[in-house]
Amino acid sequence: MTRPVTPGGDPRASGRIVAVVARVRRHGPDRATQSSLAHKTGTRLREAPPRGSSAVAVAGDAPGYTQVSADLPAPLSNSSFAESPRLTAGCLFCGMGGFAAGLVAAGFDVRWANDSNAFACTTFSHQFPGVRVVEKDIRNVHVETDALESVDVLAAGFPCQSFSQAGNRLGFDDPRGALFFEIPRLLGGFQPDRRPALVILENVPNLLVAAHKSWFDQIQRKLRQSGYWFRETSCWRVNVKAATDLPQDRDRLFMVAASRRHFRRNPFSPPAVANGTGRRPLADFVDRSKRGSDDAYLPPENRYHKMIAKAMEAGTSVDNIYQLRRSYVREKKGNLCPTLTANMGRGGHNVPFIRDQWGIRRLSVEEVAQLQGFDSKADLFPDIPTHEKYRLLGNAVCVGLASLLGAECASILRNRLP
Ligand SMILES: C[S@@+](CC[C@H](N)C(=O)[O-])C[C@H]1O[C@@H](n2cnc3c(N)ncnc32)[C@H](O)[C@@H]1O
Repeated sequence: MTRPVTPGGDPRASGRIVAVVARVRRHGPDRATQSSLAHKTGTRLREAPPRGSSAVAVAGDAPGYTQVSADLPAPLSNSSFAESPRLTAGCLFCGMGGFAAGLVAAGFDVRWANDSNAFACTTFSHQFPGVRVVEKDIRNVHVETDALESVDVLAAGFPCQSFSQAGNRLGFDDPRGALFFEIPRLLGGFQPDRRPALVILENVPNLLVAAHKSWFDQIQRKLRQSGYWFRETSCWRVNVKAATDLPQDRDRLFMVAASRRHFRRNPFSPPAVANGTGRRPLADFVDRSKRGSDDAYLPPENRYHKMIAKAMEAGTSVDNIYQLRRSYVREKKGNLCPTLTANMGRGGHNVPFIRDQWGIRRLSVEEVAQLQGFDSKADLFPDIPTHEKYRLLGNAVCVGLASLLGAECASILRNRLP
C-alpha cells in the first residue's frame, strides 16, 4: 500500500531539516489556522499529519535526494525544489488518486488534494492517509482560505466528458468543461514566485484535433497568462498499451506547463517509451481460473447475456474481452482491454465482459484496478458501493502513465533543467 511519508529521521539531515522547516514556515498557515479557516468556509478537511512533524520526517526520509551540483544553471527564482530534499505536489480533481499514486511512486510528497465527490475523497484518503483532502466544489476553493501550500507540481486531470469524441463536444460551453478555468484561477491565487514550477494537465487527445483547436488554444492562452511556458510541443499524446506494461487501449493527452519564474523555456519532453514491447499479456490481469463473485455473472435469461454470448460465438476468440456498447457488443482484439470508463459499474454500455467456465462475467474491481496500474497488493477502497469503485477506477488517470510523467518531472526539477 502506498504511504506518503515515513516518520523517523536521519540526524545527518539536520541541515536539510532547517531548510524544510524554513520552507514550511513560508508556505502558509499552520494546521490550527487551516482548521479554523476550513470551519469558516464549510470545507471538509481530511486528516493530515501535523505540518512540523511531517516536514522533519520528510527531511529525514530522503535517502534518494541528490544534492544539486554547483555547475548547474542558477534557477530563475529561489524555487522550493532548489532547497527541498523532497519534491511536493498538489492534485486538483484528484479522484481516487491515479495521478497521486504515480507521483508518489516517482518520489513526490503529495501535500493536498481536492475533489467534490465524497466517494473520491474517502477513497483518496484511504490510500493516502497523510494527505490533506479538501472536499468541495473546486469553484469554492481558494488558495488563501483553504490554505493551499505552495507545491512544486500541480496535477489536474480535469473532467473530459465535454471534450471527448464520445461526449457532447460542447467543450467549455458545458459547465463540466468550464471547470478547466478554475485551474488558472487557482494558480493566480498563489504569489507569482510561489506558483508550482510545473503544471501537469490530463485530458482526452480530442483536444488536439483540428476541429477543436480552439479548445486547445484557450488552454494555451490561459496557461501563458498564468505565467507558464506552454505550447503543443509541451504535450504528450500517449496510449497506455504503448507506454506501459499494461494491456489497456487508452489514449490520453498530458499537457505540461513550466513556470517562467523557474525556467527559461519549457524543459518538458515526452518520456521515452517501449512502444508496446514490454506489454504483459491480458492473462496476467484477468484470472479466468477463479470463480468471480456471484453478482459479476449475467443470468442466462438476461438480454445482455444473449447478446454477448452470440458475439462471443461469432468472435475471433472467446479469450478476448467483449464490451457492451449502446446497441451492440464489440470484441476487443489484440490481447487488449478496451478503454475502461466511468460508467462500467452500473451495467449498460462500456462494461467489459469475459467468459470463464462459470459463465459470462464482467471484469472484477481488482482486475480493473490492475489494468489501470494500481498496485495489486494495495488496499485501495474503503467500504463504498461496488459501482462507485468501478466509476472511480474508470475516471482515474492510469498510474503507469502518471508515474512515467512524475519521473520525468522529478528529473527536470532535480536537475533544474533550464
Ligand atoms: C477524470 S476524474 C479525475 C481523475 C484523477 N485526476 C486521478 O488522478 O485519478 C475528474 C474528477 O473531477 C471531479 N470533479 C468534477 N466536478 C468537480 C468540481 N466541480 N469540483 C471538484 N471536483 C470535481 C470528479 O469528482 C472526478 O473525480
